[in-house]
Amino acid sequence: MMRAAFFFRTAVLLIPFFVSSILQSEASTSTISVRDFGAAGDGRSYDTRAIQSAIDACSGTCRISFPPGRYLTATIRLRSGVVLDIQDGATILGGTRIGDYPRRSDRWYVVLAEDASDVGITGGGAIDGQGPAFVERFDERKNVMVSWNLTGACLGDECRPRLVGFIGCRNVRVWNVTLNEPAYWCLHIVRSENTVIRDVSIYGNFTSPNNDGIDIEDSNNTIIERCRIDTGDDAICPKTYTGPLYNLTARDCWIRTKSSAIKLGSASFFDFKGILFDNITIVDSHRGLGFQIRDGGNVDDVTFSNIDIRTRYYDPSWWGRAEPIYVTTCPRDPSSREGSISNVRFINITAESENGMFLSGSQHGILSNLSFSNVDVTYKRWTEYEGGLVDYRPGCRGLVHHSMAGMMMENIKGLQIENVNMRWSDGRSQEWDNPLDFIPSTVNDISFFNFHSDLFIQPRRSTL
Ligand SMILES: *[C@@H]1O[C@H](CO)[C@@H](O)[C@H](O)[C@H]1NC(C)=O
Ligand SMILES: *[C@@H]1O[C@H](CO)[C@@H](O)[C@H](O)[C@H]1NC(C)=O
Ligand SMILES: *[C@@H]1O[C@H](CO)[C@@H](O)[C@H](O)[C@H]1NC(C)=O
Ligand SMILES: *[C@@H]1O[C@H](CO)[C@@H](O)[C@H](O)[C@H]1NC(C)=O
Ligand SMILES: *[C@@H]1O[C@H](CO)[C@@H](O)[C@H](O)[C@H]1NC(C)=O
Ligand SMILES: *[C@@H]1O[C@H](CO)[C@@H](O)[C@H](O)[C@H]1NC(C)=O
Ligand SMILES: *[C@@H]1O[C@H](CO)[C@@H](O)[C@H](O)[C@H]1NC(C)=O
Ligand SMILES: *[C@@H]1O[C@H](CO)[C@@H](O)[C@H](O)[C@H]1NC(C)=O
Repeated sequence: MMRAAFFFRTAVLLIPFFVSSILQSEASTSTISVRDFGAAGDGRSYDTRAIQSAIDACSGTCRISFPPGRYLTATIRLRSGVVLDIQDGATILGGTRIGDYPRRSDRWYVVLAEDASDVGITGGGAIDGQGPAFVERFDERKNVMVSWNLTGACLGDECRPRLVGFIGCRNVRVWNVTLNEPAYWCLHIVRSENTVIRDVSIYGNFTSPNNDGIDIEDSNNTIIERCRIDTGDDAICPKTYTGPLYNLTARDCWIRTKSSAIKLGSASFFDFKGILFDNITIVDSHRGLGFQIRDGGNVDDVTFSNIDIRTRYYDPSWWGRAEPIYVTTCPRDPSSREGSISNVRFINITAESENGMFLSGSQHGILSNLSFSNVDVTYKRWTEYEGGLVDYRPGCRGLVHHSMAGMMMENIKGLQIENVNMRWSDGRSQEWDNPLDFIPSTVNDISFFNFHSDLFIQPRRSTL
C-alpha cells in the first residue's frame, strides 16, 4: 500500500514538470548573432572574443547564429544549452597558430564543449580546420604534417589540433553541418551520453594522415545517421581509453577513406557492447569493416547489415591491405593484455575487393561466434600494388608475407557461414591461392551452409 501510494504521487508530480520543461525550452530559446557582438566575419581578423562573448551571454537555451561570412577563431567553448547555428554560407575557420589553442594539448579543438548538456551545432554552414596549413611537406603518397611536439605539449607526429570535440557531455546534437579539412581528427565524442550526429558531411584531405572522420570514445547511446565521410584516415572509429562504450548505431552513411571505413580500436582498453552498422556504402577504401583490438578490451554483440563495400590497395605507408572485413585481437606488444571479440554478425554484405577477409584471433584472445549470412564477395585485382602481405600493424607482427586467400582464419571458436558466395574475377586469378585458409588446430566449431566459390566470368557482348 505504501509503495503504491508513493508511485502514484511521484507520477502526478513528474508529468506536469516534464511538460512544462519542454514548453519552457521551446519558448525561451533566444537567438544571438555573433555580428551583434562585433564579429567581422572577414576571414582575416580573429573573431574569437566576439564569438565567445555571444556564447557567454546565453542564459537558458540559445541559438548562436553565424550569418554568411568567414569567422577566423581560436578555440571557442560551448556551454550547456548552446547550439551553434552556422548558416548556409558561413564558415568557422580554425586558427593555425599554437597560441590559438589552450595550454593542454588534449583540449586543442577549434570548437570544444566540456561537461555541458543540451549542446550542438547545426545551420547548414561549415567548420574548417585549415588542414593544408598544417602540411609541412606535401607528398602524394602521404603528407608530412607539422608537429607542435617541440613545445613539449605532446609527443610524436600526432600533435595537432582536432576540429570539434564534446567531452563529458549529455544530449549532444550535431546536424546539418559540414566539417572540412581538420588538421588532425575531425569530430571527437568523448565520455558522453546521448549523442546524435545526423546529416553531417565530413571532408578530410585524402593525403593527410590522422584525418579521422568521427571518433567515438568511452561514450554511450550514440547515433550516427545520413552522414557522408570522405577522408584520409579512419571514417567511423569507436575507441575505449578510460571506460567502456555501449550502444552505438551508425546507419545510412556513405564513406570513402584511405584507411578503415569502420574500425573498432585500435585504442581498446575497455569493453565495447551493443553496436549496429546498417545500410552503409563504402567505396575505394583501404579497409572496409575492421576490429583492431590491441589492448585487452572485450567486444560483444556487434552487427553489420546491408553494407556494400569496395576496397582497394593504396600505398603501404597507410595501414590496411584492401581487406573488406578485418578482425584481429593480436596484442599491441608482448606486455599488452589480449581482448576478445564475440557474437559478431555480418548480414547482407556485398563486396568487391582486391584482398580477402582476415579473421585473426590471438591465443588468449579468441574470436567467438562470428556469423556471416548472405555475403557476396567478388575478388578482383585492379591496381598494381603488391599483394601477398598480411597487415598486423600497429604493433603486433607488422607486415607478414602470406598467401592470398578469400578468407584467412586463425584462433576462432564458432564460425557460421551461411549463403556465402565468393566469386573470382578471371583476369588475374593466378594471384590468389585458396578460397579458405585455416591456420591448423586454431579454428573450431565451424559450420558451412550453402557456401559457394567460383570463377566470375565477365558477361560478354555477343560477337554476332
Ligand atoms: C540544412 O540547412 C539549410 C540551411 O539552413 C537548409 O536549407 C536545409 O534544408 C537543411 N537540411 C537539412 C537536411 O536539415
Ligand atoms: C589537400 O591538401 C593539399 C595541400 O597539402 C592541397 O594542395 C589540396 O588542394 C588539398 N586537396 C583538396 C581536394 O582540398
Ligand atoms: C616531433 O615530431 C617530428 C615529426 O614527426 C619527429 O620527427 C620528432 O622526432 C618529434 N620530436 C619529439 C620531441 O617528439
Ligand atoms: C556507459 O555505461 C557504462 C555501463 O553502465 C558505465 O559504466 C559508463 O560509465 C557509462 N559511460 C558514460 C560516459 O556515461
Ligand atoms: C543500451 O541500450 C539498452 C537497450 O536500449 C538499454 O537497456 C541499456 O540501458 C543501454 N546501456 C547504457 C549503458 O545506456
Ligand atoms: C540507405 O542510405 C542511403 C544514404 O546513404 C539512403 O539514401 C537510403 O534511403 C537508405 N536506405 C534505406 C533502406 O534506408
Ligand atoms: C537482408 O536482406 C533481406 C533481403 O533483402 C531482407 O529481407 C532482410 O531484412 C535483411 N536483413 C537485415 C538484418 O537487414
Ligand atoms: C556463443 O554462442 C553460444 C550459443 O549461442 C553461447 O552459448 C555462447 O555463450 C557464445 N559465446 C560467447 C563467448 O559469447
